[in-house]
Amino acid sequence: MQLEGKRIVMTGGASGIGAATVLAFAKQGAAVISTDVQDEAGKAVVAEAAKLGVGPIKYMHCDVSNQDEVNQVFDTAVAELGGLDVMANLAGVEKNVAAEDVNEAEIDFIMNVHVKGTMYTNAAAFRYMKDTGGSIINYTSLAGISGFPGIPIYGAAKGAVLGWTRNVAKDWGQYKIRTNAVAPFVMTPMAQLTFDQMSEEAFAGVKAWFQMMVPLGGWLGDVEDSANVNIFLASDASKFITGQTISVDGGFVMVR
Ligand SMILES: NC(=O)c1ccc[n+]([C@@H]2O[C@H](COP(=O)([O-])OP(=O)(O)OC[C@H]3O[C@@H](n4cnc5c(N)ncnc54)[C@H](O)[C@@H]3O)[C@@H](O)[C@H]2O)c1
Repeated sequence: MQLEGKRIVMTGGASGIGAATVLAFAKQGAAVISTDVQDEAGKAVVAEAAKLGVGPIKYMHCDVSNQDEVNQVFDTAVAELGGLDVMANLAGVEKNVAAEDVNEAEIDFIMNVHVKGTMYTNAAAFRYMKDTGGSIINYTSLAGISGFPGIPIYGAAKGAVLGWTRNVAKDWGQYKIRTNAVAPFVMTPMAQLTFDQMSEEAFAGVKAWFQMMVPLGGWLGDVEDSANVNIFLASDASKFITGQTISVDGGFVMVR
């Protein structure tokens, strides 16, 4: 067990990569408090994880775009865990909006969760890690690194997550806090939603592009592929790694 004794708070634990990560962290022996806004789904994942793990696994409601709520939930969660070693921030939303159609509501919908949510959760985690060190895992996207058709606000938000991650890695290294980002390309409800919002023609084009660009299979990976990288980043095996982006995308993006 690579995470025995690790105390972890997570966001976005009700679905997709987050749900797979709750299960993966539990299997590795961690104590986990998983948060999300989809309470029923979040509780169901935690119930399954509790059967696999040794550490306590619990669920709490937390909207990452609300700073007061984030601070309150982190206070309660960290008090329950008795400290904080790892914070994995997987909450996310997506909506395809053409660049020429941007408006305040669409910008806020995406930026509030990805950009503000990353900053609020990271700052809350810092308060508990500054005396002990720890690992913060953020989620960026190839849309924020090399671009992706049809999701420019999301891509801009993920570019901001990347910039934030690198900057706080510089600031918080002195506290032995590591801050890294993962850029996944794996099949989840969010990935499906992105494809569902495309025209048939656009989706056919994207599929052909994936075939050409992804050497490992020409398509998206599995949620476990990204959860396994979260185990590595949460564990002491990555103790000299900070400010990095690990792409879990079958080789789609090879530049940073
Ligand atoms: N799936 C991919 O290929 C892919 C690619 C690039 C980046 N990502 C990123 O990976 C992360 C996980 O995505 P996923 O694909 O598993 O998506 P998902 O939709 O399956 O899960 C996202 C979770 O975030 C939760 N969430 C949404 N708004 C929230 C809020 N305000 N507060 C708290 N939780 C909230 C949702 O309820 C959901 O459980 C996201 O940050 C996403 O942007 C995913």
